[in-house]
Amino acid sequence: MAIPENVMTNDDMAAIVDTTDEWIQSRTGIKQRYIASEKESTSSLGLKAAQRALEVADVLPAELDMVIVATSTPDNIFPSTASLIQAWLGANNAGAFDLSAACSGFVYGVNMASQAIRSGSIETALVIGTETMSRILDWQDRSTCILFGDGAGAIVLQASEAEGGVLTSVLRSDGYGGDLLCVPSVGSLDSTSANGHKFNKMYMNGSEVFKFGSRVMTESIPQVVAQAGLTLNDISLIIPHQANQRIIQSAARHLKLDESLFMSNLENYGNTSAASIPIALCEAVQQGRVKQDDYLVFVGFGGGLSWASMVVRWGVPKPEEARGSFVNRQRRQLSYIFAFWRQRLNRFNRRMDEVVNRVHPTRGRMIRLRRKIERHPLE
Ligand code: COA
Repeated sequence: MAIPENVMTNDDMAAIVDTTDEWIQSRTGIKQRYIASEKESTSSLGLKAAQRALEVADVLPAELDMVIVATSTPDNIFPSTASLIQAWLGANNAGAFDLSAACSGFVYGVNMASQAIRSGSIETALVIGTETMSRILDWQDRSTCILFGDGAGAIVLQASEAEGGVLTSVLRSDGYGGDLLCVPSVGSLDSTSANGHKFNKMYMNGSEVFKFGSRVMTESIPQVVAQAGLTLNDISLIIPHQANQRIIQSAARHLKLDESLFMSNLENYGNTSAASIPIALCEAVQQGRVKQDDYLVFVGFGGGLSWASMVVRWGVPKPEEARGSFVNRQRRQLSYIFAFWRQRLNRFNRRMDEVVNRVHPTRGRMIRLRRKIERHPLE
């Protein structure tokens, strides 16, 4: 996982909008959240989380076949944030794409990656949930801006003969509720008014989304567990989307489960959308709450409306016991350094091309032709 440096407490929030620490904590359970600085972005946080995941898994960037980034706050519409991260890692054998399923995105992404692995088309995938929600918040709307935070989490999935991994998933959508939680943006049908909401800012109908989140958590956890051929008694830990402690409490109450069966860390991070489940998973592993062969449930819900649940049989040892090797660590560092300079040089070359072209168009064409011949001598 990777978290921005700047922390914002509820008291800091009260200096911006008309709210109090007491109100936020009692209605949501959130005490603080992290906010990206100007230098940080969805891709930079995602890159850090990705590098840490590769370290823990002891996988080389060149081994990756696919990079999936679940995000609602990509750096650009395109190129995808996944492509940016793929380049910074030097994951030169990987495909890369962004996945838009709001706060359910990480579970969707893990499902896509595990299906691709199961089908035999790929071996190793990196799935990242990364967000800079602070960039799309309406900082004048106290009912939404207090809820969200920035951050990233990532996991590496790999083909294995060992039993376990992703056992089954339930992915669902109810687009009729799309207007309850949205960010009117590029492609809005009514580009002048965005249905009365602010452009590029999040709009949320809090009470409806609250009811939706509580309902789908309560319904989809038993559904996915039954689909895996298990009962709720088999589950060691449920890692829900970290939206609101009262939603988690409501699901626990309706399912007659102890609240402690649900991983919760939203008091420290707020709702980090697609990053919330991998961040919570990472902390659960660090705290020793996830052991080898445990059955876990991931459950996410959010804009779309969308929701997704998944049963995982945790197949890897704790990070300390992971098979880290000194040589691989050095190879990863070299890959990052090489990727960095390759991009710098590419950009420099392109800029030089532009300059030469402007000053001496014929010479520019000759240089480009020579480079093309060097790259593809047979053409
Ligand atoms: N500080 C103080 N008062 C606030 C406030 C804030 N930050 N935000 C809203 N209020 C006020 C409202 O204006 C309202 O005042 P009024 O009664 O004078 O009109 C009052 O508090 C109650 O508002 P209400 O919306 O009923 O509060 P709530 O208990 O439903 O809590 C949310 C609001 C947003 C915390 C809650 O609806 C929620 O968490 N919804 C789900 C959000 C979510 O999970 N979204 C992400 C899904 S991925």
